[in-house]
Amino acid sequence: MPSPVARPVRFLRRALGPLADPAILDFWTREFGSTASRTRVLARVVARREESARAITLELQPNRRFTGFTPGQHDTRVVEVDGRISLSVQKVEGGVVSGHLYSRIGVGDVVELGAAFGQMTLPTVLPERLLFLAAGSGITPLMSLTRELDRRGMPVPTTLIYWARHRSDLCFLPELRALAAREPDFVLRIALTGDAATATDELRGRPGAGLFTDTVPDLARRAVFACGPAGFVEQVGCLVKPVARSFTSEAFTPPRFAAAESAQEVTVMLARSNRVLRVPTGQPLLVALEAQGLRPRSGCRMGICNTCACPKRDGLTRDLKNGGDSAGPDANLRICINGAQSDLTLDL
Ligand code: FES
Repeated sequence: MPSPVARPVRFLRRALGPLADPAILDFWTREFGSTASRTRVLARVVARREESARAITLELQPNRRFTGFTPGQHDTRVVEVDGRISLSVQKVEGGVVSGHLYSRIGVGDVVELGAAFGQMTLPTVLPERLLFLAAGSGITPLMSLTRELDRRGMPVPTTLIYWARHRSDLCFLPELRALAAREPDFVLRIALTGDAATATDELRGRPGAGLFTDTVPDLARRAVFACGPAGFVEQVGCLVKPVARSFTSEAFTPPRFAAAESAQEVTVMLARSNRVLRVPTGQPLLVALEAQGLRPRSGCRMGICNTCACPKRDGLTRDLKNGGDSAGPDANLRICINGAQSDLTLDL
C-alpha cells in the first residue's frame, strides 16, 4: 500500500524538481518521512529489536539509490536479507552516532546510509578453512560473513571465536548457536573475560597461544579474519600471523598517532573556502582543521571509508599510519590519516 505521504511528496518533487537544489528537495521530502531522493541513499526503519544489553538491530527498507554491498563491509554495519537491510548498532560510551541510533531511532524514522566500506570480505576463491576472531562490535562484519557462508551452505569449515566481557554483551547469540547446532562445519566458541564459562561452547580468558592450540589445532590451514578494538586486533595478529595461512583484520577504534617529536607549524590554504590556517606537522589534518572550528566530512577516522578524502593541489603530506611521504598533487588525500609536512593547498 502506498505510504500516506507518497502523494504530497510526489507533488512536491514534481512541482519543484526542475527548480530546486536536489539537497533542499531531499531535506523536505525527508521531513515528510519519505525515502525518495535523487542523490542520497535513504532508508525507513521498519523494525527494531534488542540484540544484547547494549546493542540493537534496525531493519531498514532502503530507497532505489541503494546499490547493495559486499557481505562483511560495514560502518554502516548493514546486512541484507530479502531486499531489506539490517543495521546493528552497539552503544559506545560517549559515542554520539551510536548513542543517537540506540536511543532515539525507532520504527518509521528515516535514516541516511553512507557508502559501505571495509576490507572484511570473502575472497572470490575460498580458502581451505576459515577462522573468525571477533571482539565487541567486531562481531558485525564477521556475522555478515557467517551469514553469507550459511547462505552458500557452509562451503568450508569455519570456526568463530567471539570475545566479550559478559554474556549479556554478546550479540546474535541465539542465531549463532542455532547455526552451530544445525551445521557441523560451523564451530562457535564464546570466550568470556568477565563471567565464568558454564555452557559447553564457552571458554574463559583473553586471546593466548594456548587457547588457539586447544581450539583450532589446525590453525596453519586456516585463513583468519579478525575484527575488534585496535588492541585486540594487534594482540591476535601477533599470536596467529606466524602460523595461519593468512590474516585479514580491521580495527574499529581509530589509531592513536604519536605526537611528532619536533612539530612545526605550516600554512594550509583551503582553496574552495578561501581560508588560510596554520597547523602543526605530524597531526592528522582532520584533527588540525577541527581544532580550528572547521567540520570537514569524516566517517571512520582511520583511513578506511574515504569519506574525508579531498584533493590536494600541492605540498608535502605524510601518511601517519605507515610513515610514507607524498609530494605534489593527490586527487584523494584522506585527511584523517595524513598530516602536513610543508605548506600545502587543499580543495576544501
Ligand atoms: S574518515 Fe574514513 S577515510 Fe578518513
